[in-house]
Amino acid sequence: MDLINWVDFPPLGDARGSLVALEGNKTVPFDIRRVYYLFDTKAGVSRGFHAHRRLQQVAVCVTGSCRMVLDDGVRREDVLLDSPVRGLVIRSMVWREMHDFTPDCVLLVLASEHYDPADYIRDYRQFLSALDGEA
Ligand code: TYD
Repeated sequence: MDLINWVDFPPLGDARGSLVALEGNKTVPFDIRRVYYLFDTKAGVSRGFHAHRRLQQVAVCVTGSCRMVLDDGVRREDVLLDSPVRGLVIRSMVWREMHDFTPDCVLLVLASEHYDPADYIRDYRQFLSALDGEA
C-alpha cells in the first residue's frame, strides 16, 4: 500500500472562477463526519506529531501551502500541499507532522469520525508499539 495517496478533485469552474465540491464516498473515500481547518498558523510552528487508531482524513490546502510528513513506521515521506484541487489521503495508523505553513495557509481537513481524544497516539514509540501489536 502506498503511503502517499492523492485524490484529484474535478474542477467545476467556469469563466467566472473555480469551484470544487467534495462529497463523502465519492470524491472523498469515506463518510465525512467532521470538517475542520487550520489557519493563521504562526511562523515557525509545526503541528500534528500524532497518529490516529481509526480516523481517516483527507487534507487539502485551499490557500497557501504547507509540508506534510507521513510515516507508517517503515517509510517516512514528505509532500508539499499547495493545491486546492488535490487532497492527501491520510489513513489510520499513519504518523503525521505538518511544517512550513505559509502565513496565508488554510488547511482543510475532512475526517471520517467525530473528534475523539482517545483515538490519538501522541507518542512516537507508542505508535511503533501499536503497529507491532497489529502485525
Ligand atoms: P490537535 O489535534 O492537537 O492539533 P494538531 O495535531 O493539528 O496540532 O488539536 C488542537 C486542539 O483542538 C486540541 O485541544 C483538540 C482540539 N480539537 C477539537 O476539539 N476538535 C477537533 O476536531 C480537532 C481536530 C481538535
